Amino acid sequence: MDTELGIVKTGKEADVFLIERAVPGDPAQRSILAAKRYRPPQLRDFHRSSQYEEGRRTRRSRDARAISNGSSYGRQLAAGHWAYAEFEALSRMHSLGAAVPYPVQVNGTELLMEFIGDGMTAAPRLAQSRDDPPQLAVLLDQVVDIMRMFARAGFAHGDLSPYNLLVHEGRVVAIDLPQIVDAVSNPSGLDLLHRDCVNIAHWFTRRRVYCDPEELFADLLTELYR
Ligand SMILES: Nc1ncnc2c1ncn2[C@@H]1O[C@H](COP(=O)(O)OP(=O)(O)OP(=O)(O)O)[C@@H](O)[C@H]1O
Ligand SMILES: [Mg+2]
Repeated sequence: MDTELGIVKTGKEADVFLIERAVPGDPAQRSILAAKRYRPPQLRDFHRSSQYEEGRRTRRSRDARAISNGSSYGRQLAAGHWAYAEFEALSRMHSLGAAVPYPVQVNGTELLMEFIGDGMTAAPRLAQSRDDPPQLAVLLDQVVDIMRMFARAGFAHGDLSPYNLLVHEGRVVAIDLPQIVDAVSNPSGLDLLHRDCVNIAHWFTRRRVYCDPEELFADLLTELYR
């Protein structure tokens, strides 16, 4: 049985809730999960997502049409589509050993995953970190490890920033994966990979942990094509 304990954060495209999952009759078997519920996208945001979708195919052409014309049915479908895409991305990256939340299940527009945090308190985003350069340098190494794992599997995160990286007990965990892109077959793949590199390198460099975005990009390209 699942009980909603509260909201973690409302976002532009989804809201994240804290869920307690209990096994009836066995109070010891209780776990805390994060439920990410996608909202039907606003019409004005609707076409922005198309860049990520190139090369991906929706099986039923009636659904594809409904999604592309932005009807309310289409937007509902799109929300489910994002939840499913994120579940798949988490499953794939988790099985490869990348530091991402363990995906539990997907049901319509809701994705259930491991809650990253202490008790009921979510781990802070890297963006809120007040660490000094020596500690930040350790976190940068972990971010680069995550980016390398994505690249080795052929992917760019596609929306990587210090807001989509959590720091839990000194470990970096990447979240918010629905738009993960195939870096080679997607026509925007390398641009998105490059943008991830720039976002990360600039953020760390501003905090006196020097990181060259082009070197990082070159490093990931060798992972991608090896
Ligand atoms: N598995 C998780 N464990 C703990 N906290 C989480 C988890 N997933 C998401 N969160 C929290 O919820 C916030 C929003 O999650 P996420 O970035 O996946 O959604 P979003 O809709 O893209 O939000 P935003 O528009 O703010 O980027 C995260 O910044 C994080 O604080
Ligand atoms: Mg986010």
